[in-house]
Order: sequence, then C-alpha cells, then structure tokens
Amino acid sequence: MPTAVRRVPGRLSAPSPGWTTQADVVIVGSGIAGLTTALRLNAADNGVGKILVITKDRLAAGSTQWAQGGIAAALGPGDSPEEHAIDTLVAGAGVCDEEAVRVLVDEGPDAVRELIALGANFDHDVHGEISLTREGGHHRDRIAHAGGDATGAEIQRALIAAVGAAPEIEIIKRALAVDLLLTDPVEGDGGVAGVTVHVMGEGQRDGVGAVLCRALVLASGGLGQVFSQTTNPAVSTGDGMALALRAGATLRDLEFVQFHPTVMYLGADSMGQQPLISEAVRGEGAFLVDFDGDRFMQGVHELADLAPRDVVAKAIMRRMLDTGRPHMWLDARHLGAEFWERRFPTILGVCRTHGIDPTTQLIPVAPACHYASGGVRTDLHGRSDVPGLYATGEVACSGVHGANRLASNSLLEGLVYSRRIAQVLPGELRGWSDPAPDTRTAGLVPGDARPELQEVMTSRVGVLRNAAGLEEASSMLDKIGSRSAEGVDLAAWETTNLLTVAEALTEAARGREETRGSHWRDDFPERDDVTWAGHFDTVMSDGVAEVSFVAAPASDGGPG
Ligand code: SIN
Repeated sequence: MPTAVRRVPGRLSAPSPGWTTQADVVIVGSGIAGLTTALRLNAADNGVGKILVITKDRLAAGSTQWAQGGIAAALGPGDSPEEHAIDTLVAGAGVCDEEAVRVLVDEGPDAVRELIALGANFDHDVHGEISLTREGGHHRDRIAHAGGDATGAEIQRALIAAVGAAPEIEIIKRALAVDLLLTDPVEGDGGVAGVTVHVMGEGQRDGVGAVLCRALVLASGGLGQVFSQTTNPAVSTGDGMALALRAGATLRDLEFVQFHPTVMYLGADSMGQQPLISEAVRGEGAFLVDFDGDRFMQGVHELADLAPRDVVAKAIMRRMLDTGRPHMWLDARHLGAEFWERRFPTILGVCRTHGIDPTTQLIPVAPACHYASGGVRTDLHGRSDVPGLYATGEVACSGVHGANRLASNSLLEGLVYSRRIAQVLPGELRGWSDPAPDTRTAGLVPGDARPELQEVMTSRVGVLRNAAGLEEASSMLDKIGSRSAEGVDLAAWETTNLLTVAEALTEAARGREETRGSHWRDDFPERDDVTWAGHFDTVMSDGVAEVSFVAAPASDGGPG
C-alpha cells in the first residue's frame, strides 16, 4: 500500500522538437560523474560509437567545482577499505547497502590513483606522499585534497582537460534535458529511445530538439535549490531525478537530505548558494562555540566537533533554538594566518570577501542544505529500473550513503560508480528504437513559484521536521502544483522539477516517523527505530506519484 499519492506532471510541457540528432550514448551532466563516464566509455575499445555530453550551463557549473574538502579513500599507511567501510556504514545509520559500500571502499583507492594518472594534482606532504586529512565521521586521515581547499576545482580542471583532448566526445553546453523519449511499453520494453533537450543559444541547435540514443547516463547532480539556502550551485534543481521519475524509474531515500553544519551565515535574507566552510577546517582543529564561547560539541559525541555531520548540524540547530540565535560560531583563529593561506586559501578569500578575517575573527555558521543522499535507485553498476537508463553521482541512490553521507564520499562515489557503468554499458547497449508517442499528461508550474516553494521546504522540511509542519508543507506544495505556467521557459521547467522532487521528499519525510541520519523528526526523537530500517521509494505512473515504505535489510541491493 502506498503511504502517499501525489499528482505531478507526467511530462513537462514543451514545444515539439525542432531538430533531431543522434548519439549512441548520451550523458547528462559534466561534473566528476559525467566526465568520468564519458572518458571511460571513450577510452575502452568497446565499439560504443558516438558519445554526447549535454550540460545545463558551462562544463564547470555543477557541484564538483565547488567541492572543498576532498575525496576519501583508504590510501594512507595503517588505513584499510574495511575501516573506511565501517565509518561509512556508521554514518549511514543502518540503511546503507553494504555491498555498494564494499564496492566504493575497495575500488576507491585505484579510482583515485587513476584520477591522478589522468592529471589531477593532489597536495603532497614533505615526504612526497599524498597529504591526507580528516573530516567528520572518519577515524583515520583519509581525505586527499588539492590546492588546499580547492579539490573539486582541480578535479574538474583535470577532467575538462582530458575531455578537451578527446574531440570524439561531443559536448552540448547550455542544454537542459527535458524528458526521456521511451519505447512502447507493450510492443517494446518502455526503455530509453532518446531525450528531448532544450538548447539555449547554440546556433543551429537552438530551442527544443530530440536526441535519439541507445543509452542515457544521468550524472546531473542534486536538488539543493529545493531549499532557500544551500551550498549547491544554481544548476542543482533536481532535473535528473524528476526526469527519471517521470520515465518510470524509482527514487529512493529522498528524505535523507544532508544539511552541512558549517555554512557561512550571511543573514536571514541571503538566498541560493551560500559559502561552505569545509569540515576540513574542523579537521585541522577549528571548533564550534556559542555566543558565550561554550564549546558545545564536547560531550555530545566522542568525536566532538568531528562527529558525523548530522550530529553536528543537529547540535548547532539545538543550540540556536535554545539560545534564540540565528547562527553559531566557528573558531579557527588559532590556525594562524600562514596556515590559513596555505591550507584554505579559497575559504579565506571567501570569508574576507564577506568582511570576516578568520585568522582574527570568529566565522558565523549555520546548517544549510548540502547533499541529497537519495536519488534514482541504481544497482551496483548504475542501472535504474528503466532499460537503458543509468545514473551516477549525486543524482543516483547507489545505496552507499544510507541515511547520511560520510564526508568526502561523494566525489569518490561519482568516480567509482561511473567506472562501473562504463564497464557494463558497452556489453548491454540496446539497438536503435523509435520513441513511442508520448501519452503522459503534460504540465508546468510557473517559474516564479520557486521562492515560495523554497520557503515552504526550508521552514517545514529542513533540518527540523515534525508532523504538523510536514502536513502543512504537503498541502502548500499541492497548491503550488495547481498553478499553471503561462509560458514555457527554463524557469518553469526547473521549478516544476523542483516541485516534483520536493513533493516526493516531503511525503517520504512525513512517512518516516523516526529520527535517523540526516532526517530529524522532533516529534519522533528516538533514533533508528527498527520499524523504519528500510527505504521510502517513489514511483510514478502518468502523473500519479506513489511513495511507499520498503522494509529492507541493510544489505538490500537495488534492481537487477
Ligand atoms: C566539506 O568540505 O566539508 C564538504 C565535504 C563533503 O561534503 O563531502
């Protein structure tokens, strides 16, 4: 029995395609997951044919570019994949897929070495070894970083350079993947036949077109823009998750949205992407204090300021509520100016831009939306429920993060699981098929509904949740969904995608009557109730989305 049923558009309203092209494999997204998939598919002598990457903005506009902390892998002396697995499972609070975690930690070290061989320059210590640091929830120094706190930017640079040296990979920038084109579910298998794409100003391929393909890999990132404040860039509007849901894929664990504890507080009116103060700053010795200077993380957890980030986010929120303050403080003054300049040059620059000198002043911090631990449910090779549709990176739910992603496991997941897609996809590439006529009910909400949607989600489905707030959110989202866009444009497509994932997220959060990982119900404060050791899955059939609880052992795998 579904826990909740919601009406959302079965497909996005869009003009008929004005142009058509084809590529054997389409990859949507150009961060670590998308470009790794493209490079690995291109490198292998596997007869894949034409590879096309489409990306909504510039190649570097996604979340990878912004990753500060680094990439976690058992690379250091004394560390082991086993220990990395234990920390990952503890953070995931009982709902990780253990097999998926094993894959992540076992294949992680080689995947990082390959990234280095490709040209990514990580920081080294005085002995010439990769310099490793620690972040929340890790019991070992295992976070490799680059440019101090510019790890994502360095990885993105290296991948773009590698793709630039592979001209056979075609790229279309400033292109939104609108909806999948599917084969007939009766005469065919209902699988991927192509994708409609809206290109914003690329000459001949301007406007809505159709790209026919034999497989499609979603690597389109997360949904951070569902909330008013997030560390995610503007492109993170849940497009891939919403598109996959409309095509028949399952979304899993959407309620497990991670709120990063230390996001720079710029004032209650500051909206959209906010500056992240990496957990690595605490890894190097910074600590949280309240307005009285009390180090309130001590006694909350054995790892104190380096506890898993849900624990730290909740402790900050609790102290904010108890004291009526809009933020707490991070004290990193003792690290000293020389250390700040060498180790955290990006964060130092951002703080100074906002008038805070962290070498002499406390940094105001508050939790903000950071990462979607759930997404398109996939198996151990990135396959979704829809034939020919794969997903990797933040858009996917491979099962490695469970209820709360361990710090710096996201770049690693994108790397490892993209490699695994590239291992199997050539052998299971479908034939060319004609798309069936699309009979799904089209819809579109107005683009200007976005701030209201974000406010509803932030105030009622954020770090603190309870039944009354979630119910209110559910009916307010319903009202937003009843409005129709007058025109068809990017803002309306994105807002409709945001609404679709917000509805699924809210219904899953309503259903999960417990506190687990990053999902905090203040009306159900007991943690990790065995009744809820499982997943909330969302599936959709022609505009009706059903959210249901699936009881599952921790070792439960995905489809296939
Ligand atoms: C951080 O640098 O604190 C973020 C790292 C992550 O989200 O994994």
